Amino acid sequence: MSNVNVDVSNQQVAADKSSKTFCIIGDPVEHSLSPLMHNAAFKYLNLNYSYIAFKVKVNELKESVESLHDINIAGFNVTIPHKVEMTYYVDRLSDEATLAGSVNTVKNEDGIFVGYNTDIYGLMAPIEERISNFEGMEILILGAGGSSRAALVGLSKKKGIKTIFMVNRDQQKLSKVIELGTSLGLNCNPIDYLDQKKLSQISSQSKLIINTTSVGLKNETSLLRDDSMGKESIVFDIIYKPIMTDLLECAKRAHAKLIFGYEMLLNQGYKSFEIWTGMNAPRKVMRKALLGIFGEPN
Ligand code: ATR
Repeated sequence: MSNVNVDVSNQQVAADKSSKTFCIIGDPVEHSLSPLMHNAAFKYLNLNYSYIAFKVKVNELKESVESLHDINIAGFNVTIPHKVEMTYYVDRLSDEATLAGSVNTVKNEDGIFVGYNTDIYGLMAPIEERISNFEGMEILILGAGGSSRAALVGLSKKKGIKTIFMVNRDQQKLSKVIELGTSLGLNCNPIDYLDQKKLSQISSQSKLIINTTSVGLKNETSLLRDDSMGKESIVFDIIYKPIMTDLLECAKRAHAKLIFGYEMLLNQGYKSFEIWTGMNAPRKVMRKALLGIFGEPN
């Protein structure tokens, strides 16, 4: 585990009783704006808390979680690629984390690591701001990781969805999320990752398109082009840096409605903050801290 933001010793991080340390673990994590957002909230509420970022590589999760126990971390967020595997390294899971099979928030409750999933709220809040009626809707989800699982749990609470089409590079992971969606009562159908024609056709007829993959984080080209999105579509990219991903650029050219990744980041962050502190999140402060970095999108 390498600390990318602040150097902490291998001692207990909270020497002063009122001080607490939180962090995010993932890879890549350098781009994360969670430290900025949570530190702004802690400062506003005069809490003697800090939030830092740790890079944890794919095969280092178990040891890193042990280290977090050792330093008595107060809580942490989990991001790509660890959200699903993290379910094996917590002592207890919330009901939603159990349902999704994915953890993005951990709270240290007297030495017990409890895993939560605030991605479900993070994904659904911006969707619910735009869609109130899901009746007969066809939805396309790109990806089959932890965020895709959270999307399925959130959408399974909505009545009337006709079909959720899903596409992913790794076919085994795709089968598992299809199984999850089906067990949640959704009608989930896989699309062949290499069948661009089919994907384009499904994408064109989907009212809601959600990218839950990490494609875009390094400015990669999206799997979908503008001619495969309609102006009636709502296109949601969970990638927030860059704010305008290739997928969202394509959606904008297609005159579709956009949901920016920072909207999920903020909403899951509010919930994580509330789980850790038991206080209401200072939403305006957290939003202002983030949008200060981005500027208002247009
Ligand atoms: P998270 O828990 O944050 O969702 P994850 O479980 O690692 O992260 O999932 C990342 C998603 O991005 C997966 O769907 C992954 O596809 P694979 O299952 O095929 O690995 C997808 N992904 C990551 N890099 C990708 C790439 N270069 N091309 C296509 N999909 C990619």
